[in-house]
Amino acid sequence: MKHFKAIAAMSENRVIGHGNKIPWHLPEDFQWFKKMTLGNITVMGRKTFESLGQPLANRKNLILTRHPRRLIKSHPEVFGAYKEWRGGSHLKSPYQFHFTKIDGNHEEDILIFNSLEMLNPAEFPIEIFICGGAQIYAQALPFCSDLFLTRVKRHVEGDAFFPAFEDRFELVEDVLDREEFSIRHYRNSALLRLGV
Ligand SMILES: NC(=O)c1ccc[n+]([C@@H]2O[C@H](COP(=O)([O-])OP(=O)(O)OC[C@H]3O[C@@H](n4cnc5c(N)ncnc54)[C@H](OP(=O)(O)O)[C@@H]3O)[C@@H](O)[C@H]2O)c1
Repeated sequence: MKHFKAIAAMSENRVIGHGNKIPWHLPEDFQWFKKMTLGNITVMGRKTFESLGQPLANRKNLILTRHPRRLIKSHPEVFGAYKEWRGGSHLKSPYQFHFTKIDGNHEEDILIFNSLEMLNPAEFPIEIFICGGAQIYAQALPFCSDLFLTRVKRHVEGDAFFPAFEDRFELVEDVLDREEFSIRHYRNSALLRLGV
């Protein structure tokens, strides 16, 4: 059975965002995020998508919103470069949209889903990375096999926080350790017990 993977960065006091922005600038961590997610599907909540202002390049961007048409209408600067594409076999409801670039490049498709439950990793041939923000991590972590978590080594003021995960995940690897941050790989404990 295929699961989601989660990738996130949090401070010592569990902050992940402030004023709909990430409150630090760590280029090496950004490169790590890029390396992990390139060519895959990045799932994000509508607020995170709006904070980025544009889709992540060379990835399929899947946006969760309960108001897909509102999102499409309110961002002509993004969706103007895309056309709705009706070839996606995984689209089962009128509340899911699939856009492809007008130039036909499917590498940067945008998918919009109005429910997390409708998203089945088994229907996609590539990895699905849960990329935030707080609301989406809280809902999706129980369905993630892996968590790649950057720990920013400072206290930061914020209004978006990473949910409790420690009772559900076990550390399997220290990926790297720098002066300002470390990256750790956790696995879902239930799957580890099953040997998956
Ligand atoms: N440090 C990190 O790793 C990291 C990563 C990503 C984001 N962030 C930060 O996190 C903050 C944003 O987090 P947030 O919790 O405020 O917002 P969010 O999770 O990015 O987006 C929330 C929105 O997602 C939609 N949504 C939520 N659950 C849904 C569901 N089950 N089905 C369909 N749509 C759903 C709703 O959109 P509608 O209101 O349109 O229905 C909701 O308002 C920002 O500060 C951002 O910078 C940090």
